[in-house]
Formats: sequence, C-alpha cells, structure tokens
Amino acid sequence: MMSTLVVYFTFEGSTKLIAEKIGETLKADVIELKTSKTYPTGGIGKYFWGGKSVIFGDKPTLTNESINVSHYDTIIIGTPVWAGSFAPPVRSFVNDYKIVNKNIAMFASHGGGGAVKCFEKLKEALPDNKFIGDIAFVEPKKNPDSINSAAKWAAGLS
Ligand SMILES: Cc1cc2nc3c(=O)[nH]c(=O)nc-3n(C[C@H](O)[C@H](O)[C@H](O)COP(=O)(O)O)c2cc1C
Repeated sequence: MMSTLVVYFTFEGSTKLIAEKIGETLKADVIELKTSKTYPTGGIGKYFWGGKSVIFGDKPTLTNESINVSHYDTIIIGTPVWAGSFAPPVRSFVNDYKIVNKNIAMFASHGGGGAVKCFEKLKEALPDNKFIGDIAFVEPKKNPDSINSAAKWAAGLS
C-alpha cells in the first residue's frame, strides 16, 4: 500500500487549492507548511521581500509539528513559483528533514513563468530520490480548470 504525503506552501491560496484536490484524489495526508515569519501581502512589496528571501536562500522556521517523513514512500511537494524558484518555506522543509529514497512529485502555481527552473532547483535540493512527475498551473484561483487537471495528474502518478 503506497503511503503518500502532500506537503505544500501557499502565500495567496492557489497552491492550497491544488494541494487539497490532490490529497483528496489520492486519500493522502496533506500538510501546509507554516512559518513564524510572515511576508507582506498586497502591493508590490510582496515581490520585493519574497524575491529577496529566495535569492538569499532563506530558510524560515517552520511552525508545523514535526513531520514523520519516514512514514511515506511518496512525497508530493507543492509551491508557488517565487523569483523562478520554490518558496523559502519549502527550502526549510527539504533542509529540516532527511528526504532520501522517496518517490517525489512536484506541483507549482505561478503567474506565467519560471516553473521549469523552479522544478530543476527543487530536484537539485533533493538528491537521491526518484522523481515521478511534475505539473505547473497558471493562477489556479483564477483558472478553476486547474483543479480537474490536478486530480487527473495525481491519479496517473505511480
Ligand atoms: C515573492 C513572489 C515572487 C513571485 N515570482 C514569480 C515568478 O518568478 N514567476 C511567476 O510566474 N510568478 C511569480 N509569482 C506569482 C506566484 O507564483 C503566483 O501568483 C502563484 O499562483 C501564487 O501561489 P499561492 O497563491 O499559492 O501563493 C511570484 C509571487 C510572489 C509573491
């Protein structure tokens, strides 16, 4: 029996929509990464602070309860694309936990670009795992079709 974890960060809710659909489709555990550090919302300030945080390789402290990654053979990681990479709380996750010999799938929400680079970087951050798929969505909150695509994609993972 495959045991699957969906773990994700969301800033404005798009990645959450996808994560919950994938979790429901696969009957997987779903964990939203939370941090004590908050990013400014609204205006262009969010791009400045978030972008800077990516460029400096920040690893904000996660406030989640400890995650038992050894329980899962498959980990599906979701992130918004930030400055052509994954969001800093996802860096914290891959840094805090020893993730090896897992099946890894990745999904991302973005505004129109950078998902390929984001997936490459996440792969680099997770050596010694098997990558079984990735998929990117343009602003899922505004494109409800994404939700169905996410379910289909998840059902086809193996
Ligand atoms: C700090 C920051 C950096 C971003 N950088 C990119 C980017 O490089 N490429 C892109 O297409 N969208 C970028 N976006 C837009 C988000 O990826 C997009 O709105 C995504 O759907 C948000 O997901 P969320 O609602 O789960 O936070 C950025 C957003 C923020 C806040």
